[in-house]
Amino acid sequence: MIEVRGLTKRYGDKLAVDNLTFAVEPGKVTGFLGPNGAGKSTTMRLILGLDRPTSGEAMVHGKQYQALGYPMREMGALLEAKAVHGGRSAYNHLLCLAQTNDIPKRRVDEVLGLVGLTEVAKKRSKGFSLGMSQRLGIAAALLGDPQVLMFDEPVNGLDPEGIRWIRNLMQALAAEGRTVFVSSHLMSEMENTAQDIIVIGRGKLIAQTTIDKFIAENSTGTVKVRTPQAEALAKAVAAAGGSATTSGADALVIQGLSTDQVGDVAFDTGIRLHELSQTRASLEQAFMELTADSVEYHATVQGSGQTAVPAGGRHAAGHAAPDGPPPQITNAPPPPQDTESTSEHAGRTS
Ligand SMILES: Nc1ncnc2c1ncn2[C@@H]1O[C@H](COP(=O)(O)OP(=O)(O)O)[C@@H](O)[C@H]1O
Ligand SMILES: [Mg+2]
Repeated sequence: MIEVRGLTKRYGDKLAVDNLTFAVEPGKVTGFLGPNGAGKSTTMRLILGLDRPTSGEAMVHGKQYQALGYPMREMGALLEAKAVHGGRSAYNHLLCLAQTNDIPKRRVDEVLGLVGLTEVAKKRSKGFSLGMSQRLGIAAALLGDPQVLMFDEPVNGLDPEGIRWIRNLMQALAAEGRTVFVSSHLMSEMENTAQDIIVIGRGKLIAQTTIDKFIAENSTGTVKVRTPQAEALAKAVAAAGGSATTSGADALVIQGLSTDQVGDVAFDTGIRLHELSQTRASLEQAFMELTADSVEYHATVQGSGQTAVPAGGRHAAGHAAPDGPPPQITNAPPPPQDTESTSEHAGRTS
């Protein structure tokens, strides 16, 4: 269990983390989402006690990280994959950590096997690709067999096989009842990995919910229909208050009506349907819809003390500063160089 209360971190006039309150529970993977610069890494550093909060607190099992008896046995973390002494082998790096944390030596071989580094264990980590360094960082996090795990953008630098591997690993760790807290600026990656998400923008909490709820509450979703009478159905849909766009010769994508409503409209107008299905929005679409709303809403209610987030972001209500800038996530997509460096590293990893 990780608990963060009123956590705030200011660097000069930059508010990197702005009054965050959330809890990360055991038994599931919780994704920590937000664009680059949202404050994810800073929050994680504060949880680990690597930085001092300006105000508020972060607790692991009810204590500050520094106050834990054997921190590595309670919480394992991967923040900076390259934060390893380059001249040291993977084995020696882990052995050193094990010895200073009262962890048995055999555990070093175990975790090396777990992350697939057994063959290169005696090589200097200086020559490791980013992907291999990520694996070594994960090995270090797992060394103390901790109940709480925290990973900062762990899939960066991993190839597709590595990404699948870490996704399975995180889900397996959660299935064992552990707390797994993992950050990412990639919505699509989290959609396949996490059950719960904590979304932040500009240091502020935007939502804490499940992925399913987040999508359901923040996106309209669409209805897909196949019919030999597409034109007639499009008219009937419009008359019922929906909107339809053609998608191929006999298919329509409908917004503004539920599957039940579309089915009723077709029945009432005697239109034959060959398919009627609900299309779920992706996490990314829902995220864009939510943040688009919040910017718009802010523009009209600034200063009224209301929250910027109308639907799924109700948890942000207590945190949204009435006169502060809105979390304009839509305007801050991950910079393209990030994607490039990821694929470049991915290439080197394989
Ligand atoms: N040590 C620091 N000094 C000054 N500003 C910082 C420092 N660390 C982070 N920041 C700023 O705080 C904000 C949040 O950064 P970060 O936590 O790294 O975001 P994320 O991990 O979500 O990309 C950014 O604007 C960043 O530039
Ligand atoms: Mg970061």
